Amino acid sequence: MTGPMAAVPIPAGDTRPEHSSLPLFSLLDVEKSFAIDGGRRRLRALDGVRLTVHAGESIALVGESGSGKSTLVRVMLGLEQVSNGRVLFGANDLSSLDRAQRRLFAREVACIYQDARGSLNPRMTVTDLLAEPVRLHGLRERAELPGRVDELLAMVGLPADVRAKVPSELSGGQVRRVAVARALASEPRVLVADESVAGLDVSVQAQLLNLLRDLQRSQGLAMVFVTHDLGVATYLCERVAVMYLGRIVELGRTREVLAAPLHPYTRGLMRAFPRFDAPLVVSLPGEIPSAANLPAGCRFRSRCDRARPDCALEDPTQRLVGRDRHLACLHPLDDAPGAGVDSRRLIESVDRAVVIEPDRRDLPERP
Ligand SMILES: Nc1ncnc2c1ncn2[C@@H]1O[C@H](COP(=O)(O)OP(=O)(O)OP(=O)(O)O)[C@@H](O)[C@H]1O
Ligand SMILES: [Mg+2]
Repeated sequence: MTGPMAAVPIPAGDTRPEHSSLPLFSLLDVEKSFAIDGGRRRLRALDGVRLTVHAGESIALVGESGSGKSTLVRVMLGLEQVSNGRVLFGANDLSSLDRAQRRLFAREVACIYQDARGSLNPRMTVTDLLAEPVRLHGLRERAELPGRVDELLAMVGLPADVRAKVPSELSGGQVRRVAVARALASEPRVLVADESVAGLDVSVQAQLLNLLRDLQRSQGLAMVFVTHDLGVATYLCERVAVMYLGRIVELGRTREVLAAPLHPYTRGLMRAFPRFDAPLVVSLPGEIPSAANLPAGCRFRSRCDRARPDCALEDPTQRLVGRDRHLACLHPLDDAPGAGVDSRRLIESVDRAVVIEPDRRDLPERP
């Protein structure tokens, strides 16, 4: 429960740079467009995105389907090249890492996927799945591997008797835990998760969320967490970035954003917020424009009840509007806190929903 990474022993000779005030990630006006229709048109999946991720902090990316959340994650993981702008990892541009920096990146940035089972080699035992990254990154001597595997299992609350099993012999919840343990095996500083709790049984989801929150606290892990669910965002993430058609339209501390949204789209999302376990369906009037054919002016104006003539003329870009608060709107909500939504009730309902403490009786005590 101390500072970042305190619980992860850093082996002697570690080449990790000292913790500095530099963010882990800095996204500077990132644009990503894809050629579509056989190259005849371009679709702008990310547009002027600015975001920093500091050590130990957690950020939720929320927004409807197609808003660019996965593209943002893929750009941060170096799986997609940006079309414009820069993605820095520490001080280094992701597009020009040398081999040693790439190795360090692979070690420090871990990812868990929605399809946990599909991300694990079905022929490998749990021991092999967890030992492999430890060996690959040279983090332990061979003789220490079994002990490290046991530590990782304990961290994610799995009993030691799963060691010899292959993924098909594990339950869905256990497979998720193995995937998380494997992600932790390289002793990362950032965990990136794209919809990794979506579609899960509520109790399994709650267990996994609790596990991730425990890990944040005990390991000082930074997290970038894609979710459709404002409840999940509130529970797990200090900050939230609300995305709409490739742009971060609002960014700030989660509870502040939910208590007093400034962007009409954020308020729309909050009004749509159904239950902790239900998918996000936003019922705002008007058409969602195509990312391949963005309108002039504000991309949200066709659905916005506050749109004025100037919204058709000027495209509001993401700008800093207060301490830690970003906004892309010409006519933000300026009503009293709450902006028409009883956000306290929302937050309370989220707390109630997640605080259905998961059944931990099946989990061994942590060392
Ligand atoms: N490789 C690609 N080629 C062409 N278009 C793409 C590609 N990848 C993503 N897109 C488009 O970019 C936009 C953003 O997609 P993205 O997958 O990032 O959205 P998302 O927010 O993750 O959505 P979801 O919630 O459905 O996962 C969409 O319009 C999508 O169709
Ligand atoms: Mg996605």
